[in-house]
Amino acid sequence: MTASQALVPFAPSVPPFRAPYAPDDAPLIRRLIGEARFTPEAEARIEADATRLIGKIRGESGSFGVEEFLREYSLTTPEGLALMVLAEALLRVPDAETADKLIEDKLAEARFENHERVSDAWLVSASAWAMGITARILKPGETPMGVLSGLVKRVGMPTVRTAARQAMRVMGWQFVLGETISSALSRAASMEAKGYRHSYDMLGEGARTAADADKYFASYANAIERIGKAATGTLPQRAGISVKLSALHPRYEAVNHADVMRDLVPRLLDLARRAKAHDLSFTVDAEEADRLELSLDVFAAVVADPSLAGWDGFGLAVQAYQKRAIEVIDWIGRLAAAHDRRLMVRLVKGAYWDTEIKRAQERGLADYPLFTRKAATDLSYLACARRLLRLRPRIFPQFAGHNAFSLAQIREMARENWTSADPGFEFQKLHGMGDALHRTLVEEDGLPCRIYAPVGGHRDLLAYLVRRLLENGANSSFVAKVGDAGVPVAALLTPPEEELGHGAKPRHARIPLPRDLYGAARKNSAGLEFGWSHERDALIAGIEAHRGVTYEAAPIVDGKGRPGPARAVVSPVDGKTVVGTVTEATPAQAKEAIDRAAAAFAAWDRTPVEER
Ligand code: FAD
Ligand code: 2OP
Repeated sequence: MTASQALVPFAPSVPPFRAPYAPDDAPLIRRLIGEARFTPEAEARIEADATRLIGKIRGESGSFGVEEFLREYSLTTPEGLALMVLAEALLRVPDAETADKLIEDKLAEARFENHERVSDAWLVSASAWAMGITARILKPGETPMGVLSGLVKRVGMPTVRTAARQAMRVMGWQFVLGETISSALSRAASMEAKGYRHSYDMLGEGARTAADADKYFASYANAIERIGKAATGTLPQRAGISVKLSALHPRYEAVNHADVMRDLVPRLLDLARRAKAHDLSFTVDAEEADRLELSLDVFAAVVADPSLAGWDGFGLAVQAYQKRAIEVIDWIGRLAAAHDRRLMVRLVKGAYWDTEIKRAQERGLADYPLFTRKAATDLSYLACARRLLRLRPRIFPQFAGHNAFSLAQIREMARENWTSADPGFEFQKLHGMGDALHRTLVEEDGLPCRIYAPVGGHRDLLAYLVRRLLENGANSSFVAKVGDAGVPVAALLTPPEEELGHGAKPRHARIPLPRDLYGAARKNSAGLEFGWSHERDALIAGIEAHRGVTYEAAPIVDGKGRPGPARAVVSPVDGKTVVGTVTEATPAQAKEAIDRAAAAFAAWDRTPVEER
């Protein structure tokens, strides 16, 4: 082992991860620009590498993956969208033969329909994603069936039939490796033979009941056994599993911190021990921003368990779009050192962007917990990557994504300060995406790649599918742009700091702060973020400080309080703590108040403002 590979010395403990939830973008971005800089020579190498990779992606044809689908019928065009809406609806038809008949039926209908007459509510209500995107893409008065009818007339029935089947493929099984772990393992074998690794993801998240959580736990436990039996090689090459904490607890929420720590930590530890027994990799997926602190608390508790000592497969995913990402990386480095462990860290940009933006607006937060410009996320990804690479071999970085430019930048960074022949990291892709890019990296360049492989049936697929469609359908997405031959290669290679005006344009101009959502007309109501312990603790302390304080409310007419029967008011928190009393005004008192106000108005109106 060379000096650069020596482990950081053991440190005793590390405090829980706590950091400002939604800091200002500008100073943060200035800092990240400083951290993600390349020399001009490195930039030239990156450009050449990324141009080559983009050439490979664009040269690929005939595999009918999501990139090809998007190339033909972008999700941001009405036709692409209409096909996907049709496909989503057809997916709920249980057998392929009936689905085929339905395609014929619907397209035959489309051939004769005109835009105005069609009633295709059954399509429009297909799912939430369709509603979200349709509102952005279809013009008022347009409907998916109307659009399809136009397409049939323009390009002919056979082309649209092929496209509808392709859309169904994309929707139904493009993103899923197998319906069961057995079928997934046997399908994975051919890719493993080519040198790929897998991390299996048992579809399912957001358990609603304890029974759901038990079911997902059993599914993970069974999968670990099956993957363990089939796995070959040693870590980090060995196969692994990815888990979502939201699948393992029905109330995995920050406000349930104590319950989650009590119930979820033993469950995760149990699964981790099973994975350790087979020396598998085991990654905790990153989910919503308001669960970040909680997930890290759970993760830290499991890492600290002595039974996991000596196992290098435990890890977690970090989302670069979160403004706290860089702090999370530093914290993980400290945690690994504190317990003298090697951890795997998957760096992703983040899959919940649309939800997070909307949620911050609904909650009336002071700012967003994530960046509002994609270039800022790209920049954060690079800065986090550099830190992770410097933490090798204590940390085994796993760079997940399908953006050839980002991955070329990382590859360049990986060469700094690393003296071993082993790259000490791996790339990761999602099953069904980024095939050409990763094939080049693995088969031509000899770099390691792990495939994140969802396993399950359509019933558990929807949330995952929605994220993939939103991700691929966004017009800023690399996959969507690389699929559009009209976008010049140079436009795919703009360094993020340039896009950000070197820090001068840190925020999206059309995404106002949550409080300014309604423009100048009125302020959005301010809210609290329970996922941020700082704010939650302050609220609880405030409530505690008021414990025992009571208030009395009564009518005041003409400056004098009016007595009356007082009614006790109880706290909505528990429905029994009396927080004060209220005396209601009688109709006569209300009338008297109005009469007196009206009588006083003329004099009040003549009084200069500063004397009122
Ligand atoms: P790009 O097109 O370069 O980037 C797209 C991303 O940029 C979006 O997904 C979003 O994160 C970000 N973005 C888009 N618009 C904006 C904007 N206006 N402002 C700020 N940021 C913006 N995601 C998770 O959340 N948790 C996981 O555990 C997870 N695991 C993954 C595992 C693997 C192996 C892979 C490949 C992906 C995983 N993802 C996960 C999904 C991942 O977050 C997305 O696939 C990824 O963001 C796509 O990035 P890209 O570099 O491929 O594409
Ligand atoms: C998701 O489920 C891949 O974890 C990522 O969207």
